[in-house]
Amino acid sequence: MGLNHSTLFLNRDAVEAVRLPMSTIIELVEQGLIEKAMGRVQMPPKHWMERDNERWFGGMSSLVPKFGYTAMKWQSGSDENAARGLPYLTGLLFLNSLEDGLVAAVMDSTWITQQRTAAASAVAVKHLANPDAPSFGVLGAGVQARSHLEALTHVMPHLKEVLIYDINPQAADAFAEVVRAAGFTPVIVSSARAIFDQTSVLISCGRIKANVERPVDADWIKPGLTAVAIDYDCYWKPAGLRAIDCLLTDDLGQIEHIKAYNYFVDSPPFRGELGDVAAGIAKGRVSASDSIAVMNMGVAVEDVGAAKAIFEAAKARGLGQRLDL
Ligand SMILES: NC(=O)c1ccc[n+]([C@@H]2O[C@H](COP(=O)([O-])OP(=O)(O)OC[C@H]3O[C@@H](n4cnc5c(N)ncnc54)[C@H](O)[C@@H]3O)[C@@H](O)[C@H]2O)c1
Repeated sequence: MGLNHSTLFLNRDAVEAVRLPMSTIIELVEQGLIEKAMGRVQMPPKHWMERDNERWFGGMSSLVPKFGYTAMKWQSGSDENAARGLPYLTGLLFLNSLEDGLVAAVMDSTWITQQRTAAASAVAVKHLANPDAPSFGVLGAGVQARSHLEALTHVMPHLKEVLIYDINPQAADAFAEVVRAAGFTPVIVSSARAIFDQTSVLISCGRIKANVERPVDADWIKPGLTAVAIDYDCYWKPAGLRAIDCLLTDDLGQIEHIKAYNYFVDSPPFRGELGDVAAGIAKGRVSASDSIAVMNMGVAVEDVGAAKAIFEAAKARGLGQRLDL
């Protein structure tokens, strides 16, 4: 017997067809982080598994009363995907109404993930970077570099140059074309250190792998730095993190949880969460010379608002397929 209920299925094309603006996603992510800071959400630690240090599987969920929904995302990521013609990251997001608990939508999670992750970095840059910064750098010039370019243009009004480092020179060249087409000057550099030396705002978006050589040491850290890492601490030696004046994350609980998987081993204590700074209940940048690093783990509270907005717009426009439960 059926439930007399249908779920809306949105594949990647349908999700993208909504064209939810990056400015809206930044607002929704910031609202989600503030709700978390005010203690008004539920968000258990991520469910995390790894196969042979080569492929991870992650589940994350959050309930946000302000948005009226709960979302759960189930994803996997691996370098092995490229040889199969797949993107690094694949997965699905389940959106349930708080009213009746039913699954309102099942949607491809990759577009939301790429956009909301960059939006969370934009929230960090908006609240923490020195406001006149004319450039930012990326360590890793893939999907996330592209969404970060889109997001950071909303919070860096003086942006002129984008510095690019990638271990794969072809990826750096391809991203340089994207930067040029967006009206900014790309500068490809030949080392990660050059990014730290030549710009005060940087995003590290390379690989999440526990057993890697972590290059960033204390002498890489300059006054005024704002670094956002979306690849956990895979670039950072503990000494590099200790040299930072203000170390933040989007979720302290997730930092503790992931230590069991050999990330953030020996890291210094964190000052607090990005949402606390956005909500005005914790201090972020106190002086222009502070060095700040934000380790954004990418948590479910950042997905719920965007998933709701995509579902409601898709429903109104008749996008996607109805699946009877
Ligand atoms: N924290 C979050 O919220 C969040 C969300 C989504 C993705 N991520 C992570 O962000 C990272 C990038 O994702 P993506 O979708 O852009 O992947 P991608 O495969 O599209 O791009 C990654 C790029 O980084 C390059 N790279 C790998 N190691 C590097 C290194 N040590 N230095 C410089 N470049 C390096 C690769 O050559 C590639 O061009 C992944 O680790 C992913 O797991 C985090």
